[in-house]
Amino acid sequence: MKNWLLLSVLLSVKPAFSSPSVEMLHWWTADGEESALAVVAEQFDSLPFTLKSEPITGGGGGPAKAILQARAIAGYSPDIALMEGPAIQSWAALGFLNNVNEVAASHGWDKSLYPDIKAIHQYEGNYVAIPLNIHRLNWMWINRKVLNQHQLSSPQTWESLLLALTTLKANGVSPLALGEDPWQIVQIFENIAFGVGGANYYRQAFVDLDPDALNSSETLEALNRFRALANIVGNDLPNISWNQGTKALLDGEYAFQFTGDWALGEMFSFEGEIPDYIECSAFPSTEKGFIYNVDSLAFFTKITGEDRNMIPIMASLSSPQFLLKFSQKKGSIPAQANISVNELSRCQQKSYQDYTHASTKGAAMPSLTDSMAVNPVLQNAVSNELYRYFMDPSISAETLIGHLHAINNEVFR
Ligand code: BGC
Repeated sequence: MKNWLLLSVLLSVKPAFSSPSVEMLHWWTADGEESALAVVAEQFDSLPFTLKSEPITGGGGGPAKAILQARAIAGYSPDIALMEGPAIQSWAALGFLNNVNEVAASHGWDKSLYPDIKAIHQYEGNYVAIPLNIHRLNWMWINRKVLNQHQLSSPQTWESLLLALTTLKANGVSPLALGEDPWQIVQIFENIAFGVGGANYYRQAFVDLDPDALNSSETLEALNRFRALANIVGNDLPNISWNQGTKALLDGEYAFQFTGDWALGEMFSFEGEIPDYIECSAFPSTEKGFIYNVDSLAFFTKITGEDRNMIPIMASLSSPQFLLKFSQKKGSIPAQANISVNELSRCQQKSYQDYTHASTKGAAMPSLTDSMAVNPVLQNAVSNELYRYFMDPSISAETLIGHLHAINNEVFR
């Protein structure tokens, strides 16, 4: 055998000591998300495993969650999956998840996790997933340069926001970076609803799905505001993903974007930092508050019984140093309370202050449309209704409230 041939055969053989790979299913495919994922991958450098990333495109993770279910039913779940909210407990109840009690004890989660966040990650007394971060959803991202060009100041109230959007539109400027993707649209409704009714109303209506709170003047008003927004921007929404929207906001093609602070991760990846002309302002509300979701990692048990000892991985992915580095790229704040946020950006520091304030006042609310408040069946049913309402002006607010009631009565919670 010629030497070069022998060499290429030798190079193509995987060395016996190559470390086993651990597959992680997730939906972090935007630039900012990928740079946060790189921080996860780096953690594996000092572990006897390599990370095999399994990305499934789709903001909010709808497609990724469907694929996760299909794979689990077919008996080949990934080793690790990105998860959110009540779904964690459902997966645990079905026996799919390893517990993470050992790392929870070593990092003192009983004390270091915020109470709301702790509850989501427990099932029958066991911790069953690792919380990485807290994302804020009730943000308005504002391009000040665009507002300045049209002599507009940053809106603090719903009325002034509406005025700014209409003025921009009348001046031929696209006011809002919003694509036709339902996940982007329905998030805005919960910001509006919180803005109208505050934390108690939001909790009763969208976490407890209390029939009286759903059928209230607040819901009617929130739907009317959602329609007013649809009338301004809804006719011909562009086919852009949320991250393309963020890029276009940075480029001055739009004045506003209403989405979670994954947009910040995107800004870091394009600009290295938040440009001076970008403002992060809480979505207008009568009461201060915070709408959140949490990215969590769950570790699957293997039906084949081949599960590996994942504890070193769990320990590495819940260390405070890692959580800080991860949020630095992701735009969020770390999920453990004992981590200093001094090194995070101005918007993340504001998020931290607002979260800790809201959380002590009981005004930190889980996002319904981003999988934190109710089970996925209900979430999808409610989101579909809100999306149809936004897109179809012939559906009245009263009809929509009727549909929400029907869902609430029919869907098993
Ligand atoms: C996740 C974020 C992600 C965003 C957009 C949200 O559901 O919590 O981590 O960046 O979706 O894909």
